[in-house]
Amino acid sequence: MFPTEKASQPALLDLSKAAPAPASGKHDGQGPSREAPGEKHPRNQLNELTGQEWVYFTRSVLTTTYASAYGHQLRKAHGANKPPELMKEFIEFFTRADEVVLDPFAGVGGTLIGASIAAAPRRAIGIEINPRWAETYREVIAASAGELTAQPLLVGDCREVLRDRERFADESVDYVLTDPPYNVHLPQTMSNAPRYRERHTNRRTDYNMRSEAAGDLANLGSYADYLSAMQEVLRLCYRVLRSGRYLTLIIRNAYQDGRYTFTHAEVAQRAEAAGFVTKGEHVWYQAGTRLRPYGYPFSYVPNIAHQHIVTFRKPPRRNSPRRRPPPTAPA
Ligand SMILES: C[S@@+](CC[C@H](N)C(=O)[O-])C[C@H]1O[C@@H](n2cnc3c(N)ncnc32)[C@H](O)[C@@H]1O
Repeated sequence: MFPTEKASQPALLDLSKAAPAPASGKHDGQGPSREAPGEKHPRNQLNELTGQEWVYFTRSVLTTTYASAYGHQLRKAHGANKPPELMKEFIEFFTRADEVVLDPFAGVGGTLIGASIAAAPRRAIGIEINPRWAETYREVIAASAGELTAQPLLVGDCREVLRDRERFADESVDYVLTDPPYNVHLPQTMSNAPRYRERHTNRRTDYNMRSEAAGDLANLGSYADYLSAMQEVLRLCYRVLRSGRYLTLIIRNAYQDGRYTFTHAEVAQRAEAAGFVTKGEHVWYQAGTRLRPYGYPFSYVPNIAHQHIVTFRKPPRRNSPRRRPPPTAPA
């Protein structure tokens, strides 16, 4: 039985024992350390964490700076790659050892690597439309000389791949963690303008990471098409995810043509339409974002220095069906 949320609230934890930074990142000095002593609660069926680690994860702001590690030199060719250690934190909270994580927009494998480096490794399966990024992931694994376990990464449009019920049975995945395209491709109007480009750029890679594939969400015709495609992906994820388990999306909002778009909130509405319940978010502050003098000295234009990491739950069923075998790896 999945514990009820009420029953799993560790109300009497001693939160005063702030301790040094965890090895995986820079500690922000607030709240208890992930390395504080403690034991896993006997009724905790969600993860392998101690009470202090559980509570520390639930803070709604992330200020951790993650080291460039795990094949970063190769992975950084993908301008939207995510730190595997960030993904590991989410995987360690939302799964137990050996459970299965799905990433339908896997890129160069931030989630897959996160599953491999989790304290007790998890299995993961990724889908990525651009063969170039799948190849980069393979190169990262090969370069790790055995340090990183290879996880299956399927090449294709996740909307087609996830329809394969033989490979992805209903309720066969324990957690979905993904970082989709954040919109259709937006022209780089401001940050690429001559007055900012030379002195204020911090783009480390080519901004345009689109593939040529028509199914690439970044190639759709409009933001409305993008939201519809996201809803379709979310419906497919809902089918393959076990009842009572979680899905996490990383989304960046946009400022375009003089208007700010709350993409994370609009995608959350689509997740609700697909059956999920919105549970909460982490606002991830991306330290090191170069600030550009947009609008100065005439009008307010934001420098977007954060992303929203929003978590949803597939409601638990009273009589959850028997566990199905995990998705099959490619031959
Ligand atoms: C924001 S990036 C993900 C980066 C990833 N988290 C990482 O660490 O590398 C989104 C990815 O989705 C891929 N993508 C876009 N449309 C897709 C689709 N229909 N099916 C599968 N992948 C898609 C893009 O090629 C891109 O690599």
